[in-house]
Amino acid sequence: MQRIAIYPGSFDPVTNGHLDIVERGSKLFDHVIVAILHNTSKKQLFTMKEREEMLRLSLKGFSNVEVDSFDGLLVDYGVKRNAHAILRGMRAVSDFDYEFQLALMNRRLNREIQTVFLMTGLRWIFTSSSIIKEAARFGGKITGMVPPEVEKRLKEKFSERNR
Ligand code: PNS
Repeated sequence: MQRIAIYPGSFDPVTNGHLDIVERGSKLFDHVIVAILHNTSKKQLFTMKEREEMLRLSLKGFSNVEVDSFDGLLVDYGVKRNAHAILRGMRAVSDFDYEFQLALMNRRLNREIQTVFLMTGLRWIFTSSSIIKEAARFGGKITGMVPPEVEKRLKEKFSERNR
C-alpha cells in the first residue's frame, strides 16, 4: 500500500521553506500531493494559475511529488485522494497555536488522517510568504529565500503594480 501525504497551503508564493518540507516529506512518504487551497479568505497576490505554475517549476525534480488544488474541507480532499497524512511544517512557537487548532479540528472531522509535523530547517525559521512579499514590495533583497523563478515573478508583480 502506498503511503500518501497531502501538503496543503496557500503557497502565495512557494518559498524555500516550503520546498524544504516537501523534500523531507518526499523521503518519508511514497507520494506527496502539494495541494493549493482555491478559495482562501486571505487576499492573494498571485492567481491560482500563477501559484500552481511556480510550484510545478520548483518541484519538477521530485518524482514522487504532485501539485494539485482543492476547495472545501481539507479532510474531504484527503479522503478523495486516499491520503493517510496531512503534512505541515512548524516554524517558531508562534505557529503552534494555529497549527494545533487546525490539526485538532481536522482530527475531529476525520480520525483516519493523521497530521504529521516537520520542524522547519533552521535556515527557514523566519521565512514566510507574507514577510517575503512585504520585503519584495519595497524592493528588499529576497535572493535565497525563494526559488529564482519566484524571485523573478515577485519583482515583475511589484513593478507592474507600481507602474
Ligand atoms: O498556507 P496556509 O494558509 O497556512 O494553509 C492553510 C490551509 C490551506 C492548510 C487551511 O486553511 C485549510 O486546510 N483550509 C481548507 C478548509 C479546511 O479544511 N480547514 C480546516 C478545518 S475547518
